[in-house]
Amino acid sequence: MAAFFFCLSKPSRVSNPERPFTRFRRKPVPLVVLSKLQPHSQPITQYQTHTQTHNQKLIITGPCRLSGHVPISGSKNAALPILAATLCCSGTSKISNVPDLSDTRTMVSILGEMGAEIEVYGNEILINTDGVRSVEPDSDEIGKFRGGFFMIGPLLARFGEAVMALPGGCDIGARPVDVYIQGLRALGAVVELRDGKVQAYAADGRGLVGGSFQLHYPSVGATETLTMAACLADGVTVLSNVAKEPEVICLAKFLNDCGACIEGAGSDKLVIKGKSWLHGSRYTIAPDRIEAGTFMLAAAITRSCISMSPVIPSHMSCLLDKLKAAGCKIRQWTHDTLEISAISADVGENLKGFNIKTGPFPGFPTDLQPQTTVLLTTCNGLSTVEESVFEKRMSHVNELQKLGAKIQVCGSTALVSGNDKGSALSGSCAVARDLRGGMSLVLAGLAAKGTTEIDGLANIDRGYENLDMKLRFLGADLKRLAPHLAFPV
Ligand code: EPU
Repeated sequence: MAAFFFCLSKPSRVSNPERPFTRFRRKPVPLVVLSKLQPHSQPITQYQTHTQTHNQKLIITGPCRLSGHVPISGSKNAALPILAATLCCSGTSKISNVPDLSDTRTMVSILGEMGAEIEVYGNEILINTDGVRSVEPDSDEIGKFRGGFFMIGPLLARFGEAVMALPGGCDIGARPVDVYIQGLRALGAVVELRDGKVQAYAADGRGLVGGSFQLHYPSVGATETLTMAACLADGVTVLSNVAKEPEVICLAKFLNDCGACIEGAGSDKLVIKGKSWLHGSRYTIAPDRIEAGTFMLAAAITRSCISMSPVIPSHMSCLLDKLKAAGCKIRQWTHDTLEISAISADVGENLKGFNIKTGPFPGFPTDLQPQTTVLLTTCNGLSTVEESVFEKRMSHVNELQKLGAKIQVCGSTALVSGNDKGSALSGSCAVARDLRGGMSLVLAGLAAKGTTEIDGLANIDRGYENLDMKLRFLGADLKRLAPHLAFPV
């Protein structure tokens, strides 16, 4: 079968010829050859963007009772750094179970524009970055999400230079990049902020050198970026106070499969022996613990019983403990299949409220905070929700109040008044202002009596693959309307 490359050959900036990146980390023979990978169908040669979802509305008629089984997609936050990490590798990598989301599409499209050869077969992506000839990813695209900035690490390490616009992403706080910059400097990079862009190069054109660096906060993205950079640095790097999130472990596994030498992933210290080159590899993205957690919360909020797979229960202990304490029944059917029940036969009259404080893994995930807040509006008593990771992740509260939620925000803490008889929410119009906050509105809409109309779907589409279809299969009454088309999509 003819192979079609999704290769957008319009590099926005070619590397400085005085610092030719052919001097850095090149390996002539790819370990995995494209023709041996036997793709199962014709690749997609051009990605449709999700921009058209900007004007769409989600109409939910509630209350809904959910039942059945939901398949969990690959993790967005594991896929993004792994796609960036292919910039470290000579030869082709085959990444499976990549969720089809606007963020992963943007990442793939940026890599393609920089010169990578990419083939997309559904959730499987073949990617070869040997042809990359630009060290400056498209600024507009980088400004759309957080994950694009991760490329600064591999670009610097492999090509000796990177010019990056400051990243975008959900508006949930300041989200600086100081840890990234300090860490890259500790590896011998010169990093400056010029013309609103981060300009970084390896000092004296010698490439990065191993070093010791302690992160002042266990930032997930900075840990991932520095790990990628250290893999190709000369010598040993020791990173301490690093993030312990499962997504960091996935990245380390992928890089080790590519020939890197990373020890300690999942602990607060990483020891990385730099290699002169890495090869491509095959890797399957782990299931999305935040998507799985969101569906568990959907079951609890709607007092339903659903099962889901694949999930990795150890990635979700914190949420599972809280759901059990509230009175939900969790049953593990196989090593990667969980069932959650909040039907009255299992939980009795009502669920009990509980308190959460978000924190780095293994703490309560900030990415489940807004959805959990909705559950607490349906539980007995007063509960508190303390957000300690992002200072501005409460914008969903205003929107939830439109549906009748009784929540008071005081700084970064929300006081949630529950209801003795489950949900007292009623349908209304609300706007998804960020990804997880937007998803909390969908969950509230499922439990609310009447019709809920949600705008700002582009924010939600950044993180939930096939959301409408999955919810409909579980029995939710929802449709997506494009106003200019006047019919459901
Ligand atoms: N921080 C700094 N300096 C830095 C980097 C981070 O002060 O240089 C601070 C941030 O301001 C924030 C805290 O550290 O207060 C945590 O940020 P972190 O860097 O850990 O988050 P991230 O890497 O930007 C990833 C996920 C987020 C998730 C967080 C925390 C990706 C693409 N994003 O972001 O996911 O909330 O880790 O787990 O991996 C989402 O999926 O909705 C989402 C926002």
